Amino acid sequence: MPETVDLIHDTSIDDDDVAINETAEAGFLQVATATLSRRSALRGLMATTALAGLATTLPRAGATAAENPSSFTFSRLASEIKDSHQVAEGYDATVLIKWGDKVLGDAPAFDVAGQSAAAQAKQFGYNCDYVGYMSLPAGSDNSDHGLLCVSHEYTNPELMFDAGLTKKTQDQTTEAQSRIEMAAHGHSVIEIKRDGGAWRVVEGSPFARRIHAGTAIKISGPAAGHARLKTKADPSGSKVFGTLNNCAGGKTPWGTVLIAEENIHKYFGGRLPDGHGETANFNRFGLKGKSSYGWHKYEARFDMGQEPNEANRFGWMVEFDPYDPDAAPVKRTSLGRFKHEGATTALLDDGRVVVYSGDDQRGEYLYKFITNGHVDPNDRAANGDLLDDGTLFVAKFNADKTLTWLPLVWGAGPLTPANGFNSQGDVLIETRKAADLMGATPMDRPEDVEPNPLNGRVYMMLTNNKNRGTDKGDPVDAVNPRAKNPYGHIVEMIPPGAEGDGKNTGVRHDALTFRWEFFLLAGNPDDPSHQAVYNGMTLTHGNWLAAPDNMAFDPQGRLWISTDQGSKQKKNNIPDGMYAADVAGPGRALPMLFFACPRDAEMCGPEFTPNGETLFVAVQHPGEGSTFADPTTRWPDFKDGLPPRPSIVAITKTSGGPIS
Ligand code: FEO
Ligand code: CA
Ligand code: CA
Ligand code: CA
Repeated sequence: MPETVDLIHDTSIDDDDVAINETAEAGFLQVATATLSRRSALRGLMATTALAGLATTLPRAGATAAENPSSFTFSRLASEIKDSHQVAEGYDATVLIKWGDKVLGDAPAFDVAGQSAAAQAKQFGYNCDYVGYMSLPAGSDNSDHGLLCVSHEYTNPELMFDAGLTKKTQDQTTEAQSRIEMAAHGHSVIEIKRDGGAWRVVEGSPFARRIHAGTAIKISGPAAGHARLKTKADPSGSKVFGTLNNCAGGKTPWGTVLIAEENIHKYFGGRLPDGHGETANFNRFGLKGKSSYGWHKYEARFDMGQEPNEANRFGWMVEFDPYDPDAAPVKRTSLGRFKHEGATTALLDDGRVVVYSGDDQRGEYLYKFITNGHVDPNDRAANGDLLDDGTLFVAKFNADKTLTWLPLVWGAGPLTPANGFNSQGDVLIETRKAADLMGATPMDRPEDVEPNPLNGRVYMMLTNNKNRGTDKGDPVDAVNPRAKNPYGHIVEMIPPGAEGDGKNTGVRHDALTFRWEFFLLAGNPDDPSHQAVYNGMTLTHGNWLAAPDNMAFDPQGRLWISTDQGSKQKKNNIPDGMYAADVAGPGRALPMLFFACPRDAEMCGPEFTPNGETLFVAVQHPGEGSTFADPTTRWPDFKDGLPPRPSIVAITKTSGGPIS
């Protein structure tokens, strides 16, 4: 891999899921804002080639109308950061389960001063992210009884333990603390029921499950058994312990759950032996031995010097069956190895399935996978290995507002032994390198990518990219039009057949050419230096947002956006939370703040029940950037001595009926 690739694809570990020092950047923005008058900034905006005409190509209507053009009827919140959560008037937001609460029936009660790995492995994990609601019984659309499947992305030991740790010293954990962290990762399945309007966790449920860094997981698909996946503990290259950094996720049409492995570079310390064959691969993945955690001191497989192949066994998409707690999860290598944000599916009319997945790092790519096989709606078991066989594609966005899907198939084009690819397994283990060679478009950090089940269009959250247009990153281009992009944007991709009949039949998610449009460019439209564009150039009836991350669609196909500003929450002075926007009509791209996170938390996991009456959200890392001794919030318990606790919140309308 030439040196330039390493520069363009920033592999530093300061991803947005950890608090980082933004002082230098804040200084730049202040200078830029101070030196630009409103008029000169607007002239500058229009002179930027990539942005010229954008305001007119975005559907705009009603922005200055006296009446709110939005179809939503809730009263939006003011954009204020508070120590606790906030929800629109007339709605109830109830904490359903918190870090440390019981998942398995024999779990002990949470005891912050008496934590153990054994207890944590039976309790709700840390930093909840993806939330999937799976109706009970399986295959029904029951909205009052189901399984809640929740991923636990990472840990904040400086907030979990009364041990004097800070973000900078969070790798100084003891072995006992590290093992608690390992058990706090992964996934939880809980059974939940709504009685008399209120949700509760069913104790002792036979479905209850914890998956963590020590759970036995199968590896399947073209890279399974590859020499580069074999370790001392697993000479077969097909069985791995654990799944890590499970961020967002998705569901399959046959009722399984997909959980994404994202920033797995954070877990590996040590260094590869000089001249090791994986050096370029690991550099491209940001695996530079700078672990955020202390785990490699206590478990040799997390030391790259001792077990160089272990890191090739992470960065995959994991599928598991929430209705069968004994079934081993499976890493599906056909979906590629990168920093998967999540995975969402669309069922084609012929029964094949398309899976969309973004690689969330500055300058990385958007992917989709198309199965060869067809879903059998009458035989659930027959769909078990559908995700092992198919074709992975990467997206190239063209300036003419089309997008081309490029196949990542061994032997085709540059994906040959001359470039180090000796099998499809190699292509998948080094998916990013294969995508580089195919000429994919580097994006401003693709987080959630999800097809709208009503209009068939596919929405992509691009959270930010401080390197865009600088000497550390890629130049601005048609689909990533703002230099440094501090606020992120949302792109709408339009497959053939998704032209707006609202029926979502005949939508060709398998097509190799789509169209694309901007949905919004985030930021504050009242500050011209942000170059923000929403429903119009002002937001009389909406709230501005920054760093779109996850999303959900309500039963009317309207878009619910969750945000993650990271350490910029303070600077932007708006909360992270849930923003609702129409996708069509006069209220299109007009965000309204429905739920606000407590201070220093990001919003994850938005998920509606099928009837649209409940919205589940995940409050992740409340109080991040502070410490156990002096947290910026003690949400949700607000008890002295108890740190903030990442939690799931269930939101319902007080008077009943769908959230609207
Ligand atoms: Fe884990 Fe990309 O957020
Ligand atoms: Ca996160
Ligand atoms: Ca995310
Ligand atoms: Ca994020």
